[in-house]
Amino acid sequence: MKDRLQGKLIVLDGPDGCGKSTQAELLVKWLEGEDVPTSRFRDPGDTAIGEKIREILLNPEHLAMDTRTELLLYMAARAQLWAEKIAPALNENHCVILDRWLSSTCAYQGFAGGFGADKVIGIATDCLERVWPDLTIILDVDLKTAAGRLKRQLDRMEAKGDGYHQKVREGFLQLAEEQKNVLVVDAAAGVETVHKKILELISEASFT
Ligand code: TMP
Repeated sequence: MKDRLQGKLIVLDGPDGCGKSTQAELLVKWLEGEDVPTSRFRDPGDTAIGEKIREILLNPEHLAMDTRTELLLYMAARAQLWAEKIAPALNENHCVILDRWLSSTCAYQGFAGGFGADKVIGIATDCLERVWPDLTIILDVDLKTAAGRLKRQLDRMEAKGDGYHQKVREGFLQLAEEQKNVLVVDAAAGVETVHKKILELISEASFT
């Protein structure tokens, strides 16, 4: 397992309330138990610049923000995260677990926001050093289950309403159909069941 997973970039993604942070934590614990050197980051964030961009993006006061502005800010935070954190960790042969990545921009700004997932991928290709991870796992969840898991004040993106978030979910599922190495897990199941399914997908992944 160690040889297979060292130097790999694995993304957990999905609609708000899908449980990816809990799953990322469990996955990191499991990897460490398998003796795989591991780093975990969240996108957007985890750099000084990225955390400031995250605050601008999620601040509920910024209701006027246009989809294109969102898209470019997410991409900017991502470029910084790559340069400062992900690239060095991969160079040290760590397995990198990422909470969100380009798949989110495709589903949120591309699909739900109406900008177009293909255009998002085009911009990413021009401005990111690496576009696709080795594996992206989408934690798919229905709106009702997801809402039940968000028991705090909603941020600007979470507060966009059911219609938007239904499209986000569809966007993730469509991406999984169109892109290789983007797989879906039913995340409405219990935490342990989802964790086992994620481990299954990782151990079966061909990483090509
Ligand atoms: P998080 O709270 O799961 O870290 O994600 C922050 C929010 O930003 C979440 O509502 C999803 C949204 N988002 C996008 O709209 N586009 C993106 O490219 C990313 C990475 C996140």
